[in-house]
Amino acid sequence: MEIQKYTQNEYIEKNKERFLEELFSILKIPSISTDSRYKKDVVKCASELANLLEKSGIEKVTIHTTKGNPIITGEKIMGTNCPTVLVYGHYDVQPPDPLDLWNNPPFEPTITDEKIYCRGACDDKGQMYMHIKAVETLVNTNICKCNVKFLLEGEEEIGSKSLEDFLETHKKYLQADAIIISDTALINKETPSITVGLRGLCYMEIEVTGPNKDLHSGVYGGAVENPINVLCSLMHKIKNEKGEITVPHFYDTVDSLSSEERKKLNEQPFDLDTYKRSLSLEEVFGEEGFNTIERTSIRPTFDINGIFGGYTGEGAKTVLPSKATAKISMRLVPHQNPEEIEKLVKNYIEKICPKTVKLKFTTHHGGNPVVTSTNSDAYHAASKAFLEAWGKEPIPAREGGSIPIVSLFQKKLQTEPLLMGFGLNEDAIHSPNESYGLFNYFKGIETIILFYKYYSTIKRVHKL
Ligand code: BES
Ligand code: ZN
Repeated sequence: MEIQKYTQNEYIEKNKERFLEELFSILKIPSISTDSRYKKDVVKCASELANLLEKSGIEKVTIHTTKGNPIITGEKIMGTNCPTVLVYGHYDVQPPDPLDLWNNPPFEPTITDEKIYCRGACDDKGQMYMHIKAVETLVNTNICKCNVKFLLEGEEEIGSKSLEDFLETHKKYLQADAIIISDTALINKETPSITVGLRGLCYMEIEVTGPNKDLHSGVYGGAVENPINVLCSLMHKIKNEKGEITVPHFYDTVDSLSSEERKKLNEQPFDLDTYKRSLSLEEVFGEEGFNTIERTSIRPTFDINGIFGGYTGEGAKTVLPSKATAKISMRLVPHQNPEEIEKLVKNYIEKICPKTVKLKFTTHHGGNPVVTSTNSDAYHAASKAFLEAWGKEPIPAREGGSIPIVSLFQKKLQTEPLLMGFGLNEDAIHSPNESYGLFNYFKGIETIILFYKYYSTIKRVHKL
């Protein structure tokens, strides 16, 4: 066995450049899962990632082909008496458009002002890769007292369907004492936090069809229904002036927090003026009776993500379009269920839709909301790790985004996930100029290493 030559921080310092170069090699691959034209790049990214895992000292690295995108597993087993940690991450990314708003090409990682700019820099290639480098560091400094298994997928941004099946077929392999995930954000750079809640998602497309072809808006306008007008009016009726969703029974299962829980939720630092300034907003908006923290964590939403139909080119074409479509998302909170919500919304829209048009609904991916424990061994270990690395105890915080597989980890593997993310809101995930701070990348690696140090002392150990 190699003798320990470096401390962990010395090892990170010595290998800093390589830790970045390797990350860049996967950032360069446009592994966009939402667009089937990028399938080859998704597969290429999986294979490059598997190579990097092997080079980092991870054993039994396997690329599993699925009906969708490849899933990668690998492990580093240190002993039957060591606790086992399953690390989850995703190597797929969102499309980069609108392209003209990027300061650099979206798949050419660039460092400016101590930040890596690239699609996927934070969500989630950068955060996922911190784990691989943390384990490499532990192995090379001879102090790894935990077993680590990796589970990396390429369909998170499209609902993790293949991984859902994989959980069923590989239940035994995936048994672990904890699941650790870095795909969330910190409250801010000075305020470390551990995410303890994520919203769920229900996503669907509504197509409204009027006449069987596009018509002259002068010849037919006023006599034939315009599907875009109908769609706008339907969408308008989904929310009232209080910002509440009007779909009957939409809120029936929504968990209302006790005043104590609400107070706790609002203890996190938040400055509304800074928030508004960062988005160039005069005013925020939202459901009456709730503030911005609450509106983005414990309350459900209804949003049109895209709406199209008719003529959108240059100049003024006079046309009464045949079709109009809206892509809508609803963020859900405990205990709303995406399938039930979908039914409620469909029924309501069908009910209020005029007979002059036809409706077609298409369901996209969804996911359940989650709340994770603040009392697990992993949570306590992470808390100590943050305290040591950041000099502050992390605050438990609920976030508004969704990671569909997390609730299935709880349900199907019966293992508690730990959401230990290092992103920042300013990282602009899903937006142009996504970034990830070099500070967050390296501090994240350090914090993960400390997590293993503390977690290795737990008594309750899963038998391999
Ligand atoms: N990393 C995000 C989720 C996230 C973002 C959690 C911010 C907490 C704070 C994840 O990769 C993501 O974007 N998920 C999608 C899921 C969906 C497409 C099924 C999302 O939330 O839109
Ligand atoms: Zn994402």
